[in-house]
Amino acid sequence: MKTFKGRDIIDINDFSREELLYVLSEAKRFDPTFVKRDRSNYEIAQGKIAAVLFFEQSTRTEQSFRSASQKIGMGIIGFNDPESTSIHKGESFRDTIRIMNAYADVLIMRHPESGAAKEAAEVADIPVINAGDGPNQHPTQTMLDLYTIMKEAGKIDGIKVALMGDLKYGRTVHALSLALSQFKVKQIFISHPKLKMPEEFLKILKERRVEFEEFEKLPDDLDADFLYQTRVQKERFDDLKEYEKVKDLFVLGAPFRKYLDKGVKLMHPLPRVNEIDPALDSHENAIYFKQAKNGLYIREALLALVLGRL
Ligand code: NCD
Repeated sequence: MKTFKGRDIIDINDFSREELLYVLSEAKRFDPTFVKRDRSNYEIAQGKIAAVLFFEQSTRTEQSFRSASQKIGMGIIGFNDPESTSIHKGESFRDTIRIMNAYADVLIMRHPESGAAKEAAEVADIPVINAGDGPNQHPTQTMLDLYTIMKEAGKIDGIKVALMGDLKYGRTVHALSLALSQFKVKQIFISHPKLKMPEEFLKILKERRVEFEEFEKLPDDLDADFLYQTRVQKERFDDLKEYEKVKDLFVLGAPFRKYLDKGVKLMHPLPRVNEIDPALDSHENAIYFKQAKNGLYIREALLALVLGRL
């Protein structure tokens, strides 16, 4: 296993199965489900600074990184409105990264373009954490998704996971599918043909001999332990008319309760727009809010790991 100290978290493919399981096990020490509140956690990264650079909107990812940083004793600098920075005056992306690199110990970045985190990592000599780069990837979301699956099912090998909604533009499902392909997990894709899982990802699954199936609608007899629902990524459509055509095709209404009753656990990276009826929220197998909370523990662990403090 490669050391995590100083490491960039850019692409989920950079992490072996063993490394992913290691992150999950380290996250447990921040999770009150497993450990009593440990005050020494507050000192893990005291004196270190996180630069939180959000070139694209976020609620959970940005705020949970801010919370996680502070819970392990770090200070925070950064922005979530690039127009409030010198980018507005014409400063380049690379110069902005160079400057933030000088003021911080770790960079946490979200950007609307694929590959932006990789570019930042080329310029920065401190660890860069990709908090979402366009439609490409969202590796820390994937780690919290895996953590949620592990916590709920007690294992990852041997389960079946259905991914539904916008499989074309959804970065969370791209990275999750790649990560699950390192485990013995059957993957079930449910989407409109226009929002299908891109060929490049299916090709990797085939190379890795992963068992998967594709459906154009939710099967009545869905055989899955988890259903991972997603939002249609309006902001990634070039033509909004196309978005209008597909936006309401995969909405889970109150009748979905029968799947939850049968034991299917419903996940969603959030935010949801209309794709899950809030009437389902109270069901014990609707676990998306728990899933979001798990992000805190994963991010505390990752920050401590890349800073070499665990
Ligand atoms: C997702 C994202 O930003 O990719 N949200 C998140 O990080 N929890 C999903 C989405 O925006 O639909």
